[in-house]
Amino acid sequence: MSKNVLVLPGDGIGPEIVAQARRVLELVNQQDSLDLQLTEALVGGAAIDAHGVPLPEATLDAARAADAILLGAVGGPKWDTNPDFQIRPEKGLLGIRSSLGLFGNLRPAILYPQLAHASSLKPEIVSGLDILIVRELTGGIYFGQPRGVRLKEGNVREGYNTYVYDENEIRRIGRVAFEAARARNKRLCSVDKANVLEVTVLWREVMEELSKEYPDVELSHMYVDNAAMQLVRAPKQFDVMVTGNMFGDILSDAAAMLTGSIGMLPSASLDVDGKGMYEPCHGSAPDIAGQNMANPLATILSVAMMLRYSLNAGETADRIEAAVSQVLDQNLRTGDIWSEGMQKVSTTEMGDAVIAALQA
Ligand code: IPM
Ligand code: MG
Repeated sequence: MSKNVLVLPGDGIGPEIVAQARRVLELVNQQDSLDLQLTEALVGGAAIDAHGVPLPEATLDAARAADAILLGAVGGPKWDTNPDFQIRPEKGLLGIRSSLGLFGNLRPAILYPQLAHASSLKPEIVSGLDILIVRELTGGIYFGQPRGVRLKEGNVREGYNTYVYDENEIRRIGRVAFEAARARNKRLCSVDKANVLEVTVLWREVMEELSKEYPDVELSHMYVDNAAMQLVRAPKQFDVMVTGNMFGDILSDAAAMLTGSIGMLPSASLDVDGKGMYEPCHGSAPDIAGQNMANPLATILSVAMMLRYSLNAGETADRIEAAVSQVLDQNLRTGDIWSEGMQKVSTTEMGDAVIAALQA
């Protein structure tokens, strides 16, 4: 039976990198007879420009109907000054995550041996790095109520947000993380700020309770400030990390950089049934948009994750990952991962190289 993939290019470099990922998906669709139907819709700033809102009904309906979603990136300076947060590109992304219940965000940080020298850390600290960050994606301070900016006594403006998790939300992301750890090296580090924030005291308690169901997984706890430090000091101590929405946002950027470039990292955002949205970990990079220089590999690797987790095509995913490794072996590099002696290529040339590797 045919399956639907919704493609959401978004803003900035989004359309350029998604175009390359789409070529890859169309090729493997044909090569491996996957019977995928691709459709495209607007989200983020592109949707604001066309329809006045970052997440038009039609896009949300298409997202609900799809078996999997591939997203580029959203946002840019053009829309950043709108005082109404509802009309910001980011709301489009957050709206899909929350409307579809995509609470389980998997952000692997894997160092390709070919890129050990692109990392800002010494090769011996990062070589062989393979961490999975499991980030809760539909709760916490990103979505907590009440929120806003108000006037308090004396006409003083006050901004406020609410950091809230109930035990069910903690348990369901905990399960995703324990299961992932079980399938890997069986070590799980839960990151919190339990020395200061009550909500994370509960987080820690629930993780402890859950660990009784996973006796084969070794659970540890770390405060987020220490976790940030350990990630840049000795990142290989980690196998799987699990944390809330905002800490996960921050730590996953740091972990990404360890691998040489955030331009290499895919991510998956899954609901309870494994339906998901797949996107590169990086943003819309408006500074280099439209210049055919962005790295499309994170988006291409997101296609691989999508095939593996939502479309039951693990072997095709393996082929795409092998093709990416092969183009790195050919010393082809976009600017973000380029170093002396390597051949600098454009977004489209990188796409061409992956396509050629898949056709070989
Ligand atoms: C991410 C991004 C988003 C987030 C933004 C664009 C809303 O930084 O996916 O990490 O904060 O979740
Ligand atoms: Mg982020």
